[in-house]
Amino acid sequence: MTALRIGIAGLGTVGAGVIRLLQDNAALIAARAGRPLIVTAVSARDRTRDRGLSLSDYTWHDAPLDLAHDPDVDVVVELIGGADGPARALVTAALAAARPVVTANKAMLAIHGLALAQAAEAAGVPLAFEAAVAGGIPVIKALREGLSANRIDRVAGILNGTCNYILTTMRAQGLEFGQVLAEAQALGYAEADPAFDIDGVDAAHKLAILAAIAFGQTVDFNAVHIEGIRRISALDISFAEELGYRIKLLGIARRAAGGIEMRVHPAMVPAGHLLAAVDGVFNAVLLEGDFAGPVFLQGRGAGAGPTASAVVADIIDIARGRATPVWGAAQDRLTSAAGVAIGEHSGAYFVRLMVVDQPGVLADITALLRDENISLESMLQHGRKPGEAVPIVLVTHHTNEAAVAAAIARIARLDAVLEPPALIRIEPQ
Ligand SMILES: NC(=O)c1ccc[n+]([C@@H]2O[C@H](COP(=O)([O-])OP(=O)(O)OC[C@H]3O[C@@H](n4cnc5c(N)ncnc54)[C@H](OP(=O)(O)O)[C@@H]3O)[C@@H](O)[C@H]2O)c1
Repeated sequence: MTALRIGIAGLGTVGAGVIRLLQDNAALIAARAGRPLIVTAVSARDRTRDRGLSLSDYTWHDAPLDLAHDPDVDVVVELIGGADGPARALVTAALAAARPVVTANKAMLAIHGLALAQAAEAAGVPLAFEAAVAGGIPVIKALREGLSANRIDRVAGILNGTCNYILTTMRAQGLEFGQVLAEAQALGYAEADPAFDIDGVDAAHKLAILAAIAFGQTVDFNAVHIEGIRRISALDISFAEELGYRIKLLGIARRAAGGIEMRVHPAMVPAGHLLAAVDGVFNAVLLEGDFAGPVFLQGRGAGAGPTASAVVADIIDIARGRATPVWGAAQDRLTSAAGVAIGEHSGAYFVRLMVVDQPGVLADITALLRDENISLESMLQHGRKPGEAVPIVLVTHHTNEAAVAAAIARIARLDAVLEPPALIRIEPQ
């Protein structure tokens, strides 16, 4: 049968991984695809760079955009990255030329996913992106196809391996954030510019994509509330341990009374919960369907092998002619659900204060909580040293974010409170 001809833009970690996987597993892939998959053309910035691969059989394009019109390319695979620039230009041109596209680019999909899906639908070609969320975990397929008969109530996940590695190492070694970040950078687990990862933006891109599919809505990155892990301290991690929690950066999208809540932030996860046991660079996603119940997926969220696995699975689908609308339903069936502001969130909270231990401090704090109708489930205070700073930890009962924010703002103004309080939501509720 005729081979499917592939053009790959971007030959970095993922692009080189895809070429290796297509070479190493060529026979089994051809059997599953029903025909051979062959790379015919490639593009990257630097033609002379040693990628540990022979590229001599492929046409080299200096400009990635040329792949969109190369007559020897049936499928364009975009592995450059970045929401805009050459990646978006190539994908837009390929779809306009009615070429199927496979991409791993979560930033581009989270921000321009609506327009790109419209272009794919207008051209009648697939735009596939399994690799964009949670690397080797087939979560897009599980959610969009495997659970397609369910009403999804919640998606919760550990969606960034760098953050999970940092938080796991902080706990295991009792180290502060800055130290572990520097080590992670030296080991290649964190980028030289780690902001997208540690500030929660990367996880938010993935959450916006998952939420669009889960809730049948147009992708809306701007509606995601985002907090990262820079302010997590070794002290909070050890209090979490003592109280029976693990601190994880979670992405959560769920149906709430006023619409769809989408948020990425550090969370106190009960130690017995499935998500609490996901350590190191691993990712995990918990999907809750009304008929299927909870479905839990765990695996490697990044790296050449896992990400290439997802990219090539998409190419095999295209070779077989298996296609699903980009967001699970046709564009005209998607809703633009109202986002729920974080101020409307309700749940339980961990609050850690640093106070000067002097008579009346606790009474002042509890009075301010009472004024906002917040009741406490537990309280911890260690190392009573009169006149010195001591940590006080409060765990609230179910309350609402606006009340907690108001109480914390007033508590922070007390003379005895020495630094901005740490506030961590307890999840999943
Ligand atoms: N790395 C992962 O584990 C992972 C996991 C999931 C998803 N992703 C996504 O996969 C995509 C690729 O990531 P990556 O880690 O493979 O990135 P990478 O290692 O930085 O590779 C990027 C590639 O794009 C090429 N490139 C950059 N600018 C270009 C331009 N203007 N014109 C032509 N080529 C250009 C680079 O060329 P040179 O090599 O010549 O510099 C390089 O080959 C991103 O969207 C990323 O978010 C990555």
